[in-house]
Amino acid sequence: MTQKLAARRLENQLAHSHLEREIGGFTLNLSAFNMPSERTIYHPNPSVFKNAHVNSFDQYVDLHRHSIDKPEEFWGEIVKQFYWETPINIDKFFTYNFDFRKGPIFTKWFDGATTNISYNLLDRNVRNGNGDKIAFYWEGNHPDDYSRLTYKKLLEEVCKFANVLKSKGVKKGDRVAVYMPMILESVVTLLACTRIGAIHSLVFAGFSADSFADRILHCGARVLVTADGVWRGEKHLALKSICDQSMEKCARKGHNVEHCIVVSHLGRVTAPPNAPQQHFVTPMKNGRDEWWQDLMEDASSLCYPEWMQAEDPLFMLYTSGSTGKPKGVLHTTGGYMVYAATTFKYVFDYKPNDVYFCTADVGWITGHTYLVYGPLANGATSVMFEGTPFYPENDRFWAVIEKYKVTQFYTAPTAIRALMKFDSDLVKRHDLSSLRVLGSVGEPINPEAWMWYYKVVGNEKCSIVDTFWQTETGGHVLTPLPGATPMKPGAASFPFFGVQAVLLDENGKEIEGEGEGYLVFNRPWPGLMRSLYNDHDRYEDTYFNKFPGYYCTGDGARRDASGYLWVTGRVDDMLNVSGHLMSTAEVESVLTEYPGVSEAAVVAKPHPVKGECLYCFVTLTENTSYNEKLLGDLKKLVRERIGPFAQPDVIQNAPQLPKTRSGKIMRRILRKIAVNDRDVGDITTLADTNVVEELFANRPIAA
Ligand code: PRX
Repeated sequence: MTQKLAARRLENQLAHSHLEREIGGFTLNLSAFNMPSERTIYHPNPSVFKNAHVNSFDQYVDLHRHSIDKPEEFWGEIVKQFYWETPINIDKFFTYNFDFRKGPIFTKWFDGATTNISYNLLDRNVRNGNGDKIAFYWEGNHPDDYSRLTYKKLLEEVCKFANVLKSKGVKKGDRVAVYMPMILESVVTLLACTRIGAIHSLVFAGFSADSFADRILHCGARVLVTADGVWRGEKHLALKSICDQSMEKCARKGHNVEHCIVVSHLGRVTAPPNAPQQHFVTPMKNGRDEWWQDLMEDASSLCYPEWMQAEDPLFMLYTSGSTGKPKGVLHTTGGYMVYAATTFKYVFDYKPNDVYFCTADVGWITGHTYLVYGPLANGATSVMFEGTPFYPENDRFWAVIEKYKVTQFYTAPTAIRALMKFDSDLVKRHDLSSLRVLGSVGEPINPEAWMWYYKVVGNEKCSIVDTFWQTETGGHVLTPLPGATPMKPGAASFPFFGVQAVLLDENGKEIEGEGEGYLVFNRPWPGLMRSLYNDHDRYEDTYFNKFPGYYCTGDGARRDASGYLWVTGRVDDMLNVSGHLMSTAEVESVLTEYPGVSEAAVVAKPHPVKGECLYCFVTLTENTSYNEKLLGDLKKLVRERIGPFAQPDVIQNAPQLPKTRSGKIMRRILRKIAVNDRDVGDITTLADTNVVEELFANRPIAA
């Protein structure tokens, strides 16, 4: 175990100790919550494994081995269920290079074959007799608002919107920027892009106008799709106004968005009582902005699919980079389709009569892969929910599960932690007996939250799948399988089919058996990203440089004595706030934009609900005072530049930062200060050791 990794893990774990984590062979706080240790195992319930696709651990092991030893055979069987206009050539089934010493990094699956993903998700399902099957139940923010969409109708809408996009000049390879709430038109937009080979670049509608503008500029989109606004709980989000600001910023930088298509949404849903009138007024710019509904009225519902090369780009999705500049992760057509479909089927143990409910926003990779692509590729019925778990009451998730008789529920630990604060009666008053599989994603799930999920929501009969993956991996890479994997609370467990997980020490040596190290992968699976949009060098640098021959996740993991993998968190300067990944550099650069801040350092502080929150240290210029106004200004600036989810929880005045003689900030010490832990370890390499005491003394009272 490397020192750096061990230290980071110990910090994380000690800081989270009230939530229970194990250290080495020991377990903290077990008695307090009657928590399981890493040896505690929960076996899948017979009602789950009886008819599961994979119903024993041995079967998982065999299938996994087969997928690694004979990938052509394993995936070759799976790809047969899809339609390929030009068939897959077995000689070019998959090729890759993960070692920059041997040449450029690349991954290709099914190279030379052609297909269309919207055809496979829609036409194929309609042709298979599922045209009248519900693709989506839509549940609005207000319980009075709901609708449904069949596969046939979805296909029709997608074709119509594809024709609208064409009429705006969108062609194969063009980028389309999307800033949408959780409404069905989001799905229609994404699939319409894929119908004609355009690359969608959807930006989570919680990002600020500035962040969205940067992303539009980066991908060069000339068409933007959005909605007038949305209600989330009682909060109104004026999406079109945000887009207006973004488009203005783009124009100032010489890039014109030529067409902005706006879904008229607010007028068709129930607003909270006393909603101000101005929320319903949406400024439209002549010649640029048009209403979705007007354009769709005359559009033809026939649109022949553009046959795409398997390796043609499908979409890009931005994720934070540790240098602060977001990365446009690029996924391609064939491999992503096959991987999204396969992981969805096995990880959620999906069966044709199931009703699946994923709470992730469409703006994140979870929304892309497991709200849109994976479920539709399987002909599944999903629930898409626009609102929040707390509106109109704190039992909304449970009410939705009961209403639609949901069989698989997929959410994030931060939501579970927020909901477990309430009386479990809120859960128990609903009939959740339809549930079979409970998923978790986005961050490590602490055993306390796991147990609540298992016992209170799952009634001790559901399997929990703690799915570890990334925007970059396209789909799940480490996960239990519901009918097969004995569960250990907090362990992402084992690699999915086709994935071979390796732990490396600091010197790049593989760790066999029990141990802890960098989590890397030594071969590609079909869904792995192929590049960063327009920046292949950065792709190679970020993911393949540190350990030649391996894809580096940036996370640490530990393998226990029985081979289970436990993801221990980021080993780079990234933060995970409520499952939103962001870099410390990104927030630091915003803070130092403020004229009174000369330097800033940001670290993660454990948070009981968000998982982590931002603890910022700012060094002020001589004439700047540390006061409420400054704090308000800085928080506002971060909200404006990045988005509300990045707002700092604590901003501490730091007349000096702890630096080594070479000027490097020692974040390890800052993390200790953030949690008020005086056990700071060796500080002899600091240029001035007095800084540490000064910072402890300066901690804000509320921190
Ligand atoms: O640190 C890991 C954490 O989230 C990161 C990926 O974030 P993003 O690309 O935004 O995708 C989130 C949804 C897939 C990872 O590098 N992470 C995600 N899932 C887990 C997790 N950490 C521990 N356990 C998980 N199940």
